[in-house]
Amino acid sequence: MKTKGKKAFQCQSCGYISPKWIGKCPDCGEWNSFVEDTILSEGLGRKSSEGTKPLSIKSIDISLSDRLSTGIEELNRVLGGGIVRGSLILIGGDPGIGKSTLLLQASENIAKKYGKVLYVSGEESLMQIKLRAERLQITSENILLLSETLVERIIGCAQEEELSALIVDSIQTVYTEEAVSAPGSVSQIRESATKFMNFAKSRNVPLFLIGHVTKEGAIAGPRVLEHLVDTVLYFEGDRGYAYRILRSVKNRFGPTNEIGVFEMTGKGLSEVSNPSLIFLSEHSPTSGSAITSTVEGTRAILAEIQALVSPSNFGMPRRNFIGVDYQRVNLLTAVLEKRGRVNLAGADIFVNVVGGLKILEPASDLAVISAIVSSFRDTPLPESMIIVGEVGLSGEVRAISQVELRLKEASRIGMKGAIIPKGNLERLKDSFNLKIRGVRSINELLEIISY
Ligand code: TYD
Ligand code: MG
Repeated sequence: MKTKGKKAFQCQSCGYISPKWIGKCPDCGEWNSFVEDTILSEGLGRKSSEGTKPLSIKSIDISLSDRLSTGIEELNRVLGGGIVRGSLILIGGDPGIGKSTLLLQASENIAKKYGKVLYVSGEESLMQIKLRAERLQITSENILLLSETLVERIIGCAQEEELSALIVDSIQTVYTEEAVSAPGSVSQIRESATKFMNFAKSRNVPLFLIGHVTKEGAIAGPRVLEHLVDTVLYFEGDRGYAYRILRSVKNRFGPTNEIGVFEMTGKGLSEVSNPSLIFLSEHSPTSGSAITSTVEGTRAILAEIQALVSPSNFGMPRRNFIGVDYQRVNLLTAVLEKRGRVNLAGADIFVNVVGGLKILEPASDLAVISAIVSSFRDTPLPESMIIVGEVGLSGEVRAISQVELRLKEASRIGMKGAIIPKGNLERLKDSFNLKIRGVRSINELLEIISY
């Protein structure tokens, strides 16, 4: 059914609609993002589903929603315990990060266990996919490949088969006949995703959409997509490192902020089921290195924070922070100067989280401060000790969440001690075989770590 729409300009970043062209989007603040497009008014182009009746909540059968295993434990966990049938899952990430690789590997497992998986690529030729599959040693006959970009034809093919999963690589390359604008534009992406959603829900087939990410970190254009799909996963990581982190930022069927850690090898992605060991593997007790325990979703991971403080050769000292929140670390250095009386004014400060990990939670404040002080004084921190705690503007150390989880992980990896907020220590029921010390302020911390 062709639908009528009216011409208007639409922001390609957030989908805001304006009757005339404007330079800056009043909604998301993006510059030069408006493109003329045919806008479908709400409701147009969507058939009302006949015969739908309200159901009593008691009568709804949830046995159908038992989950499929992807055969990749890290992926299963990020999804909240496997794939829910009929769910629409968006996987975003920079080009070359490994999205296609991950889904091809998952396809193999799903195909072997549950039956046919259709992998649709609008980006690569069948030969390219086959080459990758050889590299990944993928052999299942139940993986069907299709090189196609028209949504109606993809769904047509999918309907002819009894599928256990459908993968569309990528949402930016497909288009539907019902929207007139170019593939990758907001209206194309939204219309295409809506069609895929209807297919997934009506056939109860899980559907993965791969999406590329712009440099700002939003899935190109379609922030409009995020609320449409059930689950949004981001695949992140520095290309300089082999480690890749898969993070759930939205999940209707599980916890968010859950992460899965992978390593890119010559034979595809391999799971890292014990990330603490990896991130600490090259740790040595030198000055400027602190170990913290950070919580990602339901799991704690030990990570190393490094700092380098050196006298500046310039009038304007350099501050360069990687893997931590820039504003937050600036704030912490100010607290350290004012409350801890550590004179950092003429110093260059560099902070880095080892292994390309990003730690944005305030519970790492105390470890960042310890690393900076340790480098400033050129004195290593006590060995085998984790440091956790949030620091406030008056230099007080605030209690943090999930201390037990963090301590348990530290103990498991073989740490010997921990510095934690006093507020947490008072309520702690177990010491997990660690020598635990509580601090109330950064001055108490400075006393402990100077010897
Ligand atoms: P790919 O899955 O194509 O990334 P995306 O779909 O996110 O764009 O991954 C491409 C990168 O991964 C490429 O740089 C090559 C590398 N790679 C390996 O290192 N080992 C492998 O086994 C495979 C298949 C890819
Ligand atoms: Mg790809």
